[in-house]
Amino acid sequence: SLKNSSITVDPRRILAPVDERIYSGFVEHLGRCIYGGLVDYNKTPKTKVNGKRHREDVSKAIKDLKMPVVRWPGGNFVSSYHWIDGVGARENRPRRPELAWLGEESNQFGTDEFIEWCHEMKVEPYFCLNMGTGTLDEALGWIEYCNSTANTYYANLRRKNGHPAPYNVKYWGLGNEVWGDWQVGQMTKEDYAKKAAEWAKAIKLLDPNVQLISCGCTGLDNWDHHVLDKLINWVDMHSIHMYTAHDEYIKNVTAPAAAETAIQVTKNLIDLATIQHPPKANGVNSLEADSKKKVKICFDEWNIWDPTRADGTKGAEEKYTLSDALAIASWLNVFIRQSESLGMCNIAQLVNVIAPIMTNDSTVFLQTTYWPLMLFSNYMRDGHALDLHVETKMYTGATGINDGSYKWIQGKFGVTLLDVSAVKKIGSDTIYIAIVNRSEDEEANTKIDFHTKISGIHAWELYHDDVLASNSFETPDKVVLKENDCQIIQNEDKSVNFTFQKHSFTLLEVKY
Ligand code: AHR
Repeated sequence: SLKNSSITVDPRRILAPVDERIYSGFVEHLGRCIYGGLVDYNKTPKTKVNGKRHREDVSKAIKDLKMPVVRWPGGNFVSSYHWIDGVGARENRPRRPELAWLGEESNQFGTDEFIEWCHEMKVEPYFCLNMGTGTLDEALGWIEYCNSTANTYYANLRRKNGHPAPYNVKYWGLGNEVWGDWQVGQMTKEDYAKKAAEWAKAIKLLDPNVQLISCGCTGLDNWDHHVLDKLINWVDMHSIHMYTAHDEYIKNVTAPAAAETAIQVTKNLIDLATIQHPPKANGVNSLEADSKKKVKICFDEWNIWDPTRADGTKGAEEKYTLSDALAIASWLNVFIRQSESLGMCNIAQLVNVIAPIMTNDSTVFLQTTYWPLMLFSNYMRDGHALDLHVETKMYTGATGINDGSYKWIQGKFGVTLLDVSAVKKIGSDTIYIAIVNRSEDEEANTKIDFHTKISGIHAWELYHDDVLASNSFETPDKVVLKENDCQIIQNEDKSVNFTFQKHSFTLLEVKY
């Protein structure tokens, strides 16, 4: 039962290195994410902006998340985006109809502005290509503009626009959610795989240093099977998307189990495709000949999102509760446990749109979901995931998610109420253990067996009496972290007893 839970932590039981890119982000030209979020182009903003008109309050909140990579410009937006509209003198850039969210795009924030923002934020850019209304020629032009040092048209255009050095954009996505019926340029899996392979070949001939990411579905779909089967030797990562959310507390906090299933299934599809299509020794490109390459999963859209709940007119501005923050912590536990298969994960999104950071004309507030993200990203990195043994009460009721087509996807049967992951740091005697007590009303008396002598434990805790508590501009500190050094009384068998409050998230820093 929860009252008698136990966690066994053995620092020798290493699962896999944690790739810090699992803490990456995503910003889209949707609602107030870019304009009013990342940047404030008003002549007399109430917010403090730097010379580039980046909002300083937002920049600070993002920098504290230590994100390695940020994906841009969409999302659905990219399927009718022409990058050429967003470069050159800003007063000459055309306003265009925007077909994904039925708005207008001013093109004031384009490639050069995004790269400039990435440099200031110290994040690497990840661009998604327009495979809707866009052409291969246009995609090649964009890659040449960003990465080429040759004396050719688009490389020279970048120089003419004031940027002599190449941007070396490494990550390029081959379209976004091309399978969705909301997409301009929706394709069948067969048509997509054929077209994406052609694009990949040309892109690799132009720039063999880029990493390509195939457009997947949820990872649980025939789309993923087919696309991986055809593209396995052309791509470095395969993208999957999933959003979870439920009005019922227990379903909300256990739904990330569906993401764990999705990662495991996708990993198996990658293994199957790799076995069935061994790389050719004399392939068209160097990638095809690289037999050591292992395709990883790029979970490049994930979050808590119920589009019917979030205020759509304002552009998916979700208001997150403590329950949602616990779900985010469980998502991140999934990523740690499955780190062997994950090359990158991008929370969708970063500011205002289904986001941990919210702005108005004069200030920001941090949503409940910001806190687990910040703790994981700062501490659960530069190390190896550990294989834990957890004994606790199970939740055996229904859980799962609505996928993009609003089909119910059943999660795992039997989900632990105490959800745990751990990372052993490289080069230091420190282990971080992340614990979500998903029970709504029971505390968890837990014996943690450390196998070794412990010298100190520090704890951060996210808790509020009300699972529906949320932060706002008026009450920005309703749900925030508390931290303290723990009194350690280590039992003879090297275990320590802890009590994890009902519906709480705790991160333990354990020094041994
Ligand atoms: O992140 C919001 C939207 O969700 C993205 O534009 C799209 O890719 C997904 O459907």
